[in-house]
Amino acid sequence: MFNTTITNKFKDLETPFYYYDMGVLRQTLEACTNASAKYGFHVHYAMKANFNPKVLDMIQSFGVGADCVSGNEVKAAIEHGFDKGKVVFAGVGKSDKEINFALDADIFCFNVESVQELHIINDLAKAKNKKANVAIRINPNVDAHTHHFITTGLDENKFGVNIWQLPDVANALRECTSLQFLGIHFHIGSQITDMEVYKSLCTRINEMQDWFEDHGFPVKVLNTGGGLGVDYHNPDTNGMADFESYFEVFKNFLNVKPGQEVHFELGRAMVAQSGSLISRVLYVKNGQKKNFLILDAGMTELIRPMLYQAYHDIENLSRESGQSIKYDVVGPICESTDCFRKDVDLPESFRGDLIAIRTAGAYAEVMASGYNLRDKVQSVYSA
Ligand code: LLP
Repeated sequence: MFNTTITNKFKDLETPFYYYDMGVLRQTLEACTNASAKYGFHVHYAMKANFNPKVLDMIQSFGVGADCVSGNEVKAAIEHGFDKGKVVFAGVGKSDKEINFALDADIFCFNVESVQELHIINDLAKAKNKKANVAIRINPNVDAHTHHFITTGLDENKFGVNIWQLPDVANALRECTSLQFLGIHFHIGSQITDMEVYKSLCTRINEMQDWFEDHGFPVKVLNTGGGLGVDYHNPDTNGMADFESYFEVFKNFLNVKPGQEVHFELGRAMVAQSGSLISRVLYVKNGQKKNFLILDAGMTELIRPMLYQAYHDIENLSRESGQSIKYDVVGPICESTDCFRKDVDLPESFRGDLIAIRTAGAYAEVMASGYNLRDKVQSVYSA
């Protein structure tokens, strides 16, 4: 819950808007960078989680690298001061234009997702008389035990190369003289809170690095990807991702050899709890079976509940107490799926009440759309 000074400030603002608590963001970044620094781990921020300029500026000030999945993300990272020597570029469908841009920018490494892509990067690098650093993204077939739509590391997923394709990867690496093999990359999914999953990933990474070394490819970089989850149910009482346990698992279970670097690509855990979507109740519809709170924000501002059945805490900032009523909290968009959550217990609510949808710092603003020709909403920041 926000304190009254903040809620009073919200009263005069046009809704909806994203609210970023820069203090929470700073504390989270401190916790993350302190926990990783203990073991000398390298952290890249996954730009896709939130590329709001002020958010990027603060993250960059902590000296972390950037994990990008498009040419424009590479461009934004460099424009916001991220060290290009700490930029990694993943993505299953990098276009020639994007690869050329990243080659010209001299990024740290391409996380390559297929044998064909290795050849394309090699050709484009050769044309520029350059050598491209590459890591092979391996699909380790490890179940992330998260929502099906945000699972990426199973055989059925489109990402990375499968283990049975590794001999072809080795052949391609031998042929491609404009590539420099740096290491191996993984990303098995998102919103993972079960540390056992990361233990399984470590086991698989250990096997994979042995495979490459046995085939004559020294592995300098072990990139474990991202995925660390946050507590969407308790943003106030458990507002920090468990960075300590997360990095400790890799410290304890990853077989790190002398001279090797361990890299991470965290998105959600770094930004999710610092953001909220603030909206107003436009209408209250009391029905025989259902009561609806119709907000001025919808799936165009936060699509996660509609796309992944994701839970977000919903609070009425205008009423601290009152008779509790169950509402379906919905948006104004002309789609039945435009519902943030059904049967939410809230104090009796009225037109004009301010509603906060919490933990919206990751994958909210960046996934906004202009569907129904909606306005692009503003962002508001705490000091
Ligand atoms: N590295 C790679 C290669 C990725 O694909 C992702 C996320 C990350 C790192 C960062 O993962 P994180 O630490 O944020 O879990 N829109 C979905 C999440 C999609 C994640 C896509 N990849 C959501 O709202 O839950």
